[in-house]
Amino acid sequence: MPVWPYFVNMKLLSDKELNWSDIVANNRMNRSRNASGVNSYEQELKLRPEKLLHAFIERNGKVKWLDLCCGEGRALIQAAEWLAEKKIQDQAQLIGIDLVDQFHPVPEPVSCLRFEVMALAGWMPSDRYDIITCIHGLHYLGDKLSLLAAACSSLTEDGVLMANLDLNSIRVEKDVKAQYLRKVLKEHQIDYKARSKMIFCKGPRQLTFQLDYLGADDRAGANYTGQPAVDSWYRMIK
Ligand SMILES: C[S@@+](CC[C@H](N)C(=O)[O-])C[C@H]1O[C@@H](n2cnc3c(N)ncnc32)[C@H](O)[C@@H]1O
Repeated sequence: MPVWPYFVNMKLLSDKELNWSDIVANNRMNRSRNASGVNSYEQELKLRPEKLLHAFIERNGKVKWLDLCCGEGRALIQAAEWLAEKKIQDQAQLIGIDLVDQFHPVPEPVSCLRFEVMALAGWMPSDRYDIITCIHGLHYLGDKLSLLAAACSSLTEDGVLMANLDLNSIRVEKDVKAQYLRKVLKEHQIDYKARSKMIFCKGPRQLTFQLDYLGADDRAGANYTGQPAVDSWYRMIK
């Protein structure tokens, strides 16, 4: 692992440059996970999204699911079809956001789902959500911590955030073993599972990091998934 100040000789990319990087905008990455079964959100989350949606509807009478970096949006479409079949889609709002417009067409009976093409760098939420997912999306973001903080702040009181996150890809000056990040997450009672590299947050949080974002390295190589990913570089604020 390169150590500080290795970055001094590196070309760190701005958000705009990163959006055009071949590591981020390519057709080789897996954008087609299903809701459940093989190659699915269920495998990543260890739960069926439909079940979670249903539990919120049972409890609160409604549910809002935001899927950041949703890829083709298959999981959202399949979950929305399930809600439509159960005749409860009027109690649900499903939103998928991705940088690339490769969304599958939304089938006729579905009215509870919409997709937005958007670069998520600097994203400011304008709503609150019961479920926020980001399945293998943060690997390609520049300022991963800012997106994480924005997402956590926009959860409803009993809302849940679930995302794949590799702390090894967040490089902080003088924090080679990511102790600082682990400490901040722990202080905010955000659960990070080092083995599965999943992050979970229940209920809203105002996450603050004493860090300046420096830029992204799209030449970091493959991460634990075996796919090339992006490292995000930060410096401690003194
Ligand atoms: C590995 S794919 C996962 C897609 C989907 N979650 C799935 O599991 O099928 C990662 C997705 O992140 C999207 N992405 C990468 N950088 C992004 C950004 N800055 N803003 C929005 N989406 C981004 C990519 O376009 C891609 O669709």
